[in-house]
Amino acid sequence: MRLMLLGPPGAGKGTQAESISREFDIPHISTGDIFRENIKQGTELGRKAQSYMNQGLLVPDDLVVDLVKDRLLKEDCVKGFLLDGFPRTIPQADALDAELSKMERKLDRAINIQVKKEVLIERAVGRRVCKSCGAAFHIKFKPSEIDGVCDRCGGELQQRKDDLEETVIKRIEVYLEQTEPLIEYYSQKGILMNIDGEQEIQTVFEDIITGLRG
Ligand code: AP5
Ligand code: MG
Ligand code: ZN
Repeated sequence: MRLMLLGPPGAGKGTQAESISREFDIPHISTGDIFRENIKQGTELGRKAQSYMNQGLLVPDDLVVDLVKDRLLKEDCVKGFLLDGFPRTIPQADALDAELSKMERKLDRAINIQVKKEVLIERAVGRRVCKSCGAAFHIKFKPSEIDGVCDRCGGELQQRKDDLEETVIKRIEVYLEQTEPLIEYYSQKGILMNIDGEQEIQTVFEDIITGLRG
């Protein structure tokens, strides 16, 4: 199955991606996670992406597109994949389409997780991520067992640099301007699936699975 997750910052893409990729045994490809890993490793790509990310802006299309093209050529993508946070602009979506056509493949579904603005801000600002393994928690909605400590690996939890309230607000603006048009884009292709993201994490997951199997 070849899937992509669409939705504003804090909608729950990463949270759902973990369960969906496990359910269908397909790789979870998050461009945000790839950039954060590159920043941590101090690579050239990380250096280029960092200033955009910290301001809540999108990284330029050419940097993102090349990275995803390379990733899709990896062996594990033969059985399918789940894109999280890509494409995020119309040019990125066109580039993905062209690349998949070359491989004689196409996207099966675009899963659009819908959540209103006030909820998004609370989710993003309260999120805590593990410094070591990247697992995400929420101080209110998904607390770790021990405050500040990762349940999965014991690593230290921290706030993402772009999860300060004013940066979250900027990211939402950028989403509305540059990414939201993709809803219409995928609707016209007949592969859009809308999901109510303002429910419990498990209920959102069940709705997605029902939608994909139905
Ligand atoms: P990216 O990392 O993709 O961030 P984002 O799209 O802003 O989305 P988030 O990761 O913030 O939210 P999410 O939807 O994954 O929510 P989560 O599941 O964590 O991108 C970061 C930056 O990288 C971009 O700003 C840009 O600069 C750059 N970038 C990345 N891709 C790019 C691209 N293609 N082009 C250009 N630039 C790109 O959930 C959030 C919180 O809520 C968590 O704490 C979670 O526990 C909690 N939660 C989740 N679901 C629920 C629920 N149902 N109920 C209650 N709480 C919930
Ligand atoms: Mg995410
Ligand atoms: Zn961890």
